[in-house]
Amino acid sequence: MQIGIVGAGMVGSAAGYAIALKGTASKITFVDYNADLARAQAEDIAHAVPFASSTVVTAGDYKDLKGAGVVILAAGVGQKPGESRLELLARNAEVFRQIIDKVLDAAPDAILLVATNPVDIMTQIATRLSGLPPQRVIGSGTILDTARFRHLIGEHLGVSARSIHAYVLGEHGDSEVLGWSSARAGTLSIKEFGAQMRVPLTAGVKARIDDGVRNAAYTIINGKGATWYGIGAGLERLLRAITRDEQTVLSVSIVTPKVEGVNDVALSIPRIVGAQGVVADLFPELDDGEHEALGASARLLKQTLDALDY
Ligand code: LAC
Repeated sequence: MQIGIVGAGMVGSAAGYAIALKGTASKITFVDYNADLARAQAEDIAHAVPFASSTVVTAGDYKDLKGAGVVILAAGVGQKPGESRLELLARNAEVFRQIIDKVLDAAPDAILLVATNPVDIMTQIATRLSGLPPQRVIGSGTILDTARFRHLIGEHLGVSARSIHAYVLGEHGDSEVLGWSSARAGTLSIKEFGAQMRVPLTAGVKARIDDGVRNAAYTIINGKGATWYGIGAGLERLLRAITRDEQTVLSVSIVTPKVEGVNDVALSIPRIVGAQGVVADLFPELDDGEHEALGASARLLKQTLDALDY
């Protein structure tokens, strides 16, 4: 499958690098307002391809997105140290107003993958500007938070993150909801697994994991100015579910008709992803506290969107 990546900054290039190394797409075309940057990223990644795949990596302008089955939207500005994702909104909403039509003029049948933060609201904006069905405008949402959650649970329990089934729900941001009550390790609840392995999930351990997931980006941004490898790999994983029609469950963000009483809001819940985009929403079993937190996250996103005149 040919894909496009609009935005050749750190996130877009990390996604392109992961996709090229794994051979998830047959061709990647980078587009950026800074054409020199797009060309340089494409050439640098093309030099990695001989070690790993046969992906063609190029750069061009919007017309060169013709034939793309998926276009990743990673254009916009990133968080500054201490800046929340929601504070980026006005600047990045303007960027999307400028690029969405140009993308669809070239690739009207493409599925859009949104990475630009605040990703849930940017997904809602991309859905409205594109006029595409919500199932074909997919935000990376909490796919990275879920990976962080599984990583930290697995690290505590002494087991591979790939044996942990747990999801982060709601906003990809400060109000996100860690799905503790439904989290499992192998065939056991993580509470039972911890008890059997004598590494109990105490309140202190859960608080440490919550902080490690919820504030991961702030910590990394303080150290290196931005995050890109985690989200880049997450975007490759999401693209792979589409290109291989995997029907995989991923916690991605699309405009959802009703979540905890809030209408038409984009946030993450587990969803089945395949060649047609999102195939089904899987509303998770939550405890009372999680239902309340997910409702608060949904209301925060809805209020933030409603306050934006776009
Ligand atoms: C992060 C960015 C992608 O959470 O929002 O690292």
